Amino acid sequence: MDFQGRDVVSINDFTLEEINYILDVAEGMVPAAKGEEVLDLIPGKILAMMFYEPSTRTMLSFETAMKRIGGKVIGFSDVRATSTAKGETLADTIKMVEAYADVIVLRHDREGAARMAAEFSDIPVLNAGDGAGQHPTQTLLDLYTMRSELGYLRKKSIALVGDLKYGRTVHSLTYALAKFGANLHFIAPEALQLPPEVVSHLEKRNASFEVHEDLSDVMGEVDVLYVTRIQKERFPDIEEYNKVAGAFRIDTESLTGAKKSMIIMHPLPRVDEISPDVDGTNHARYFQQAFNGVPVRMALLSLVLGADLGVLR
Ligand code: NCD
Repeated sequence: MDFQGRDVVSINDFTLEEINYILDVAEGMVPAAKGEEVLDLIPGKILAMMFYEPSTRTMLSFETAMKRIGGKVIGFSDVRATSTAKGETLADTIKMVEAYADVIVLRHDREGAARMAAEFSDIPVLNAGDGAGQHPTQTLLDLYTMRSELGYLRKKSIALVGDLKYGRTVHSLTYALAKFGANLHFIAPEALQLPPEVVSHLEKRNASFEVHEDLSDVMGEVDVLYVTRIQKERFPDIEEYNKVAGAFRIDTESLTGAKKSMIIMHPLPRVDEISPDVDGTNHARYFQQAFNGVPVRMALLSLVLGADLGVLR
C-alpha cells in the first residue's frame, strides 16, 4: 500500500483495506498521542493549516498530531488576516503555501474547494471539511472509534441522526459504512434527509439502509447512535432553520429501551442535540472520539509524508 504524496479529498479515495491499514497504524500511535512516548517520524516536515471556517477539534488535533510525530505547523484560521481579504484566489494562495510546507490541511466553506486545491498543489492536500461536501479525516476517527468499541462493523446497526443533508461528516461516514457492510438507519426531519447523490451511491452498492423520522423506531436495535448538529450556517434561509432547530434532543429519557452496549457518538460541537446528562452514562463516547482524532491524524500525516513506520513495530 502506498500513501506517500497522496491527497485525501473524499473518503472514497481509499479502499476498505487502506482504511483498515490507516486505523491499524493509528493504534500504534496511541502512546505517543498521549505523550507517553516521543516520536520523531518526520523530522523537519512542515504542515500548513488553512482554515477558512471555524474549527476547534480538527484544527487543534491536526496540530497536536503533527507535533507528536516530530513535525512543525504553520497556518491561519482567520481568513480576514490573509490576502484572501484583498481578493487573492484560493488557487493562488495554494500555489504559495505549497512552497512553504510539505502537506496542507484545508477547511473551506465551498464544496469542491479541497478537490480544486489538490489539483493546484504538488504537495498532499487533506480535506478538513469542504462546505456541505465531505470530512474524510473525521470519518477515519469515527471508524477508529467504532472499530475499537464494536470490533467489526459488518452488519452492525448504525443510526445517523440530525442534519443528514448539510452534515459533511455524515456524507463521508455514510460512504465508508456502506463499504464496511453496516446496516444503516437515517433519522432526520424530511427536509434534512440525505442528499440524492449519497442515496444513489447507497443504492448502487446495494447497501442496507432505512430512512426514519422518529428515533424511537430504532432505539432498541442500534449499536451506534451517531448524532449531528443542525448545520445552521449552511441554510439559505434562517426561517427554514427555525423550522427544524431542536428537532432531536437526546436525553437520558429518550434512551429508554436502548441496548446496554449502545454507544453515542457526535463529531462535536454540540448545541442542544445531546443533553449534558447523557455525558455521564455508559453510552457516551464523544469525548473519547474527539481524542481519537490525534492518533488517527498522526497515522495519516505519517503515511502521506512517507515516514518510516518500522520503529512502531
Ligand atoms: C464538524 C464539521 O466541521 O463538519 N466538526 C468537526 O470537525 N468535528 C461537525 C459540525 O460542525 O457540526
